[in-house]
Amino acid sequence: MATSAPRLLRLGSVLARQAAPSSLLQQQFRTFSDKAAAEAVKAAPEAVKADSNSKAKIRGFQFLLFGGLGAGFAYGYSLFTSQAPTSGPLAGPPALATAAAPKTSTPGDYDAVRKSISSLLDADYDDGSYGPLLVRLAWHAAGTYDKSDGTGGSNGATMRFPPECEWAANKGLAIARQLLDPVKEAHPWISYADLWTLAGVVAIEDMGGPTVAWRSGRVDYSDGSKIVPDGRLPNATLGAKHLRDVFHRMGFDDRDIVALSGAHTLGRCHADRSGFVGPWTNAPTTFSNLYFQELTNNKWRPKKWDGPLQYEDAKTGTLMMLPTDMCLLSDRTFKKWVTLYAKDQDAFFKDFAVAFGKLMELGVPFPGKAAAAS
Ligand code: HEM
Repeated sequence: MATSAPRLLRLGSVLARQAAPSSLLQQQFRTFSDKAAAEAVKAAPEAVKADSNSKAKIRGFQFLLFGGLGAGFAYGYSLFTSQAPTSGPLAGPPALATAAAPKTSTPGDYDAVRKSISSLLDADYDDGSYGPLLVRLAWHAAGTYDKSDGTGGSNGATMRFPPECEWAANKGLAIARQLLDPVKEAHPWISYADLWTLAGVVAIEDMGGPTVAWRSGRVDYSDGSKIVPDGRLPNATLGAKHLRDVFHRMGFDDRDIVALSGAHTLGRCHADRSGFVGPWTNAPTTFSNLYFQELTNNKWRPKKWDGPLQYEDAKTGTLMMLPTDMCLLSDRTFKKWVTLYAKDQDAFFKDFAVAFGKLMELGVPFPGKAAAAS
């Protein structure tokens, strides 16, 4: 579980954001620092091995050198922009490299893997956690499933290969995959497909969300030959019919669609990834039903800007909704569930846990029946 100190830091970051809403400059810094964070994450595994042999020591030195240069550059940039850095290499390597997280385990010790994942979450990245990004990685790994022919899904971890890793929908997810590399190195017996889905589940729990039933059994394909055609993940510019086409294809119903969309209580949109900007809530690293409350309690208007259509709350202009989020309000059936989840967080947690657990298992040939969510 997350310690209370990082949670306080996160709260501080949320309050700071509320006091000083994102400017274009901050957004640009974030764009820069996301790239820098990816570099830091890429370099971090080297730090783990730095003491094991002399070759590794050289790499450790390289890490320090480039890490130092990166940190210096980021510091200079932050002075130049007069903005406090919100993420990036100033945060140092992921916690796995430095903290008391398991750096080895016996095969099958998933608790050790969970601990290693947890140790990476709280970081000086975005709003203070990699959690939302890991949830998106797990979802995009699984959301390609088609129940009519059994193709796609979380089995195989095909997002390691082109073209899937290059799909526009998967922009930014390289950071999440690289973040998990030290975990894979520490526990080489786990498949990437199991690791990515477990990371999503652990992130949800650590951010205060429900326990999602998870079981191992996914394998990694050796190449990209089973990658499905691009276009199966949802397109945020479209509406209710599109959401039904996409999610019914996976085997979900309308209620599941709304429950799963509640994951947008986490994280934010990034201009350099999806083209949209901003968070859905003021507490983007805490799993709650706030997304549904914001959706129902605010007046939403189209954002006036030079980007794709998105909505902003009329009161502060700091929160956002995608066209697909807004269709949950305009469609009568979807709205029924939005209203319930806005009022009843327990109902949302229960439905989300079941739907997310099912999502993580799509396309996985487990022996026997699907795991029940607890
Ligand atoms: C309903 C259809 C959906 C659409 C159209 C959609 C679209 C998007 C878009 C455009 C972003 C912003 C990406 C970026 O710029 O970084 C995003 C972020 C996110 N999505 Fe979705 N999404 C959908 C469903 C889901 C589902 C089912 C989940 C999980 C259960 C999910 C979890 C997330 C999370 C956690 C983020 C934040 C990532 C971050 O902070 O880096 N989304 N989504």
